[in-house]
Amino acid sequence: MSNNHQNLNIILTGFMGSGKSTVGMLVAKRLEMDFVDTDTVIEQLYGPIPEIFEKEGEESFREYEREISRQLAPKTDLVIATGGKLLLDPINIEALSQNGRIFCLSAPIDEIIERLLKEDRSKRPLLDSNDFEERIKEIYNHRQDAYATFEQVDTDGQSPSEIAIEITNRLLPEE
Ligand code: S3P
Repeated sequence: MSNNHQNLNIILTGFMGSGKSTVGMLVAKRLEMDFVDTDTVIEQLYGPIPEIFEKEGEESFREYEREISRQLAPKTDLVIATGGKLLLDPINIEALSQNGRIFCLSAPIDEIIERLLKEDRSKRPLLDSNDFEERIKEIYNHRQDAYATFEQVDTDGQSPSEIAIEITNRLLPEE
């Protein structure tokens, strides 16, 4: 597909389980851009996320997210899938939005719960709770207003490739 993103980065945010990594990889493939997943970069540099939370605390993880955002900000031609809270930090929004277009993947809470129940719970330390569903709802409700400030991509009932097509279509110049 022709490349209309004008060298900007394409950045995905949204709640855990909204499909940022899967969709991001597909967008990168369609546009022949490199794909970066901030959680993966942090794990490569600092070790598994659950261990960072456990041994160093969440604030240390958030500092690593700020560090990665600083490093990625000047780059171009990347599709970046961010960890679910990275872009709820104004410092990271400022860094990454200078050179990128941000899309927020959204899905109804029931859909998010269903997707997260299918995944390995131990990978997401924030959801480590006796009442998994309640914990997801609590964080989801708390973050809704912040996610709503970004350009929305509704993922409900759409496959990852359909969502990737929708995003790439939005990059086309308006007629
Ligand atoms: C987090 C989301 C995770 C990861 C970390 C914290 C969050 O990424 O960054 O566990 O606070 O929403 P995903 O959104 O890719 O699951």
